[in-house]
Amino acid sequence: MSQPVRHFLDISELPLQELRNMLDASAAMKAKLKAHEKAKKPLEGKTLAMIFERPSTRTRVSFDVGMRQLGGESIMLTGAEMQLGRGETIADTARVLSRYVDAIMIRILNHEALLELAAYATVPVINGLTRRSHPCQVMADLMTFEEHRGPIEGRTVAWTGDDNNVLASWAHAAERFKFKLNVATPPQFAPNKAMKDWIKATQAPIVLGADPEEAVRGADCVVTDTWVSMGDKEGEHRHNVLKPYQVNAKLMSLAKKDAIFMHCLPAHRGEEVTDEVIDGPQSVVFDEAENRLHAQKGILAWCFGAVA
Ligand code: CP
Ligand code: NVA
Repeated sequence: MSQPVRHFLDISELPLQELRNMLDASAAMKAKLKAHEKAKKPLEGKTLAMIFERPSTRTRVSFDVGMRQLGGESIMLTGAEMQLGRGETIADTARVLSRYVDAIMIRILNHEALLELAAYATVPVINGLTRRSHPCQVMADLMTFEEHRGPIEGRTVAWTGDDNNVLASWAHAAERFKFKLNVATPPQFAPNKAMKDWIKATQAPIVLGADPEEAVRGADCVVTDTWVSMGDKEGEHRHNVLKPYQVNAKLMSLAKKDAIFMHCLPAHRGEEVTDEVIDGPQSVVFDEAENRLHAQKGILAWCFGAVA
């Protein structure tokens, strides 16, 4: 019997052991690369189609380089230059691409479209960011946390800012990897009912609140992200409401002394984070960016069955 297709759509959809296997594989491949050891090429002859409906620096480059390092190749596509932009359905696009390529990575705001693509594709589909979640990012973040501070289980991560896709994936990770997630958002930019219901149903160790100081107190890691995600409307009101959620030296000083600071980047310096923090000794944002490459190699290897 053929194996089910291994889509990487959300951290909440996958068993902890498989997520852990991906992270272990990522760490092993990173160590080999750093030691200049000859690495296996498990994706030799494989092609990844990358579809970007929205801009990207990290996701685009790290997937491309990751495929090359694993022995495969990638094709870069944008929705606008495909027939998708002229109304070809997601389902037909999935069926056609599945005849050419061995996996598809897509960045598309509409999460339902991602799910539809996965439903009709006969090759693995990877979520490269939707409005709802950004699981590849948080796999890299978990890897980064553990490199700096050891196992994340039982530790405390604090999120301050608005509710967004990166926060959703952190929430999914907190449930799977069993760490505490303290969330501080203004009430009008708080997680929606679906997320609140999910937290209740899964009993995930997540505390939702509105006070950034309370959220970061005693945290091992402080995380924030842009106040205006792709697809959000810019606005003075948004910035004014989010101002008290900025990660600055004063807020950071309330976390544990050895707390690390993470941000998926791109950062809006002076808005959600000050230069002092993002360029300071507690910041690991560029390790985090680098780990997009290594973490995604683990994800790709899992999608192709090279990792259990
Ligand atoms: N963090 C992240 O996904 O960055 P890009 O938008 O540059 O891919
Ligand atoms: N929350 C941000 C993440 C960017 C990588 C966005 O969706 O724009």
